[in-house]
Amino acid sequence: TRWISIDAYTMSHLHPSTRPNHAALAHTLQLCDEQSLPNIACPSPHGKFFALQCRMLGVTHALEVGTLGGYTAIWLATENPALRITTVEANPRHAAVARDNIRAAGVADRVDVVLGAGLDVLPRLLDEIRGGTRERFGFTFIDADKLNNYNYFDLAVQMSGPRACICVDNIVSKGKLAMEGEAAGNEMVRGARECVERVGKDERVEGTVLQTVGEKDYDGFLMAVVK
Ligand code: DHB
Ligand code: MG
Repeated sequence: TRWISIDAYTMSHLHPSTRPNHAALAHTLQLCDEQSLPNIACPSPHGKFFALQCRMLGVTHALEVGTLGGYTAIWLATENPALRITTVEANPRHAAVARDNIRAAGVADRVDVVLGAGLDVLPRLLDEIRGGTRERFGFTFIDADKLNNYNYFDLAVQMSGPRACICVDNIVSKGKLAMEGEAAGNEMVRGARECVERVGKDERVEGTVLQTVGEKDYDGFLMAVVK
């Protein structure tokens, strides 16, 4: 469709195959496909957008919840040569594929894949930050089990430095976010609504939701800045 061809056209000019990380990103998607991971990595322009946000903010430490095959983490790391990323994955098979991809991309020294459930791992990271043995995060990408969106968001805020950015994927829930009826039972919608409603009341942050179309069809993410 038009949406897919426009991502292909714009990325072919703004991120052509001559870029140093192009092969690593393509290899990552290929290995994810071969290993039958779900085809739900973020769209390529979003991967680059999040990487550019890190660059704009001068982020030195980023957090990701939901590594999947490592695609977004590889975007962030390869576009930001000094950035260190902690990425949390609950599925051991996904974490193993991600570690392979991260090693192949040459960024294993800066990307730490932590195997475990977000609600186990994030409080541990928060303790380390409070204990002074870990740096605060300047950017967080939340893209995991959707019913915990706000739980992860709340922990991310507590682990953020001032003016840190927190993005939550799939908030538009493929267009069902504001729909009545059967959408109310959908976990993605329920997790997204809770997140939007609680971020709206959260005095620690200021947020917005951007709807998107492209190679992954229609969706959108929430972006918030920590005050
Ligand atoms: C789904 C999850 C995602 O994180 C995503 O980007 C797209 C789809 C899903 O669970 O269907
Ligand atoms: Mg997602």
